[in-house]
Amino acid sequence: MLFETDGMMDQQKPDLEQLKQDLSAAIDVATGLDTLDAVRVHALGKNGVVTNLLKTLGGMSPEERKVEGPRINGLRSEIAGAIEAKKDALAAEELAERMASETLDLSLPPKDTPKGSVHPVSQVMDELAEIFADLGFAVATGPEIEDDWHNFTALNIPESHPARAMHDTFYFGENQMRDGMPMMLRTHTSPVQIRTMTSGEPPFRIIAPGRTYRSDSDATHTPMFHQVEGLVIDRDITMGHLKWTLETFVKAFFERDDIVLRFRPSYFPFTEPSAEIDMGFSVENGRRIVGGDPNGPDGGWMELGGSGMVNRHVIAACNLDPDEWQGFAFGCGIDRLAMLKYGMDDLRAFFDGDLRWIEHYGFSALDVPTLSAGVGA
Ligand code: DAH
Repeated sequence: MLFETDGMMDQQKPDLEQLKQDLSAAIDVATGLDTLDAVRVHALGKNGVVTNLLKTLGGMSPEERKVEGPRINGLRSEIAGAIEAKKDALAAEELAERMASETLDLSLPPKDTPKGSVHPVSQVMDELAEIFADLGFAVATGPEIEDDWHNFTALNIPESHPARAMHDTFYFGENQMRDGMPMMLRTHTSPVQIRTMTSGEPPFRIIAPGRTYRSDSDATHTPMFHQVEGLVIDRDITMGHLKWTLETFVKAFFERDDIVLRFRPSYFPFTEPSAEIDMGFSVENGRRIVGGDPNGPDGGWMELGGSGMVNRHVIAACNLDPDEWQGFAFGCGIDRLAMLKYGMDDLRAFFDGDLRWIEHYGFSALDVPTLSAGVGA
């Protein structure tokens, strides 16, 4: 219908009313910006029907032009206005359609993307913090690069002490001394005891989980491993408090009430008296389980860590009066706690960085351990 108007300009008196109706109808039915633009070119383009009508004004007599001029110009601006209005309507429609179809739900994680997980060692450290926080312990930290005084001397391990040789220490070179002291990667978390006692006022109740280093590597040792240190300094603290604290801890950690501890006399320079702590185990479904009767068939004892009453030399080295302040300390390997609790049997796999291992043994970032919800998996 639209293109029937093409020949109209040949006529003497083009039917402007008809042309307007045809163009308006074409504008009306245009369903997209493309078709609308085709109508615009057809009407108002260089060779458009309305443009060509305007060109006829030049050949008219002044009287005729006076009449036809406003009519044709009126038609042109009416059509141009209608096209603009339709264009806005189509654009609004298109936008509404896109808004409806291109929804983006920010409350959902993207599908099929790797999510990452929490390493069992980190998980166990969180569990330790949760359990000991409930007993009133704060979490303390110290540097992994330590000096001789904090790592050894203040802990009652003087220079010639054989315990120094036992630690297989990673020393920094002669030219890396600080204040005349050799520097090293800390061989245990015990220096955090010193840093705690020298930087605040007693009483203290802290645990210090963290990385430790020794030049040792086989099936059960890695050069970097994790320990947790415990320290309580107050008045009238006894070995009884130590035993209760460790018993309460292992029962909460392994989520069993039938765990028995055994204290074996031992020696550590920084405690007096000193004890090694063993946990009773039994065998369930062919697997060693912490808890149950250690004297039953296949039962026995496995080591948890070292402990004792803080040596008065250590308390004095931290400028506290050992006659006023006493306490207990303990130190355990975290990696072994994780292995026992979550059934991993190769320590070296912990630090291989194998994605398949962490995907299998890792924990969800949303699985935050709490005492009420359980500190387990
Ligand atoms: N620092 C000791 C080690 O690495 C472990 C230890 C034993 C820590 C007895 C203590 C303790 O706090 O009282 O072998």
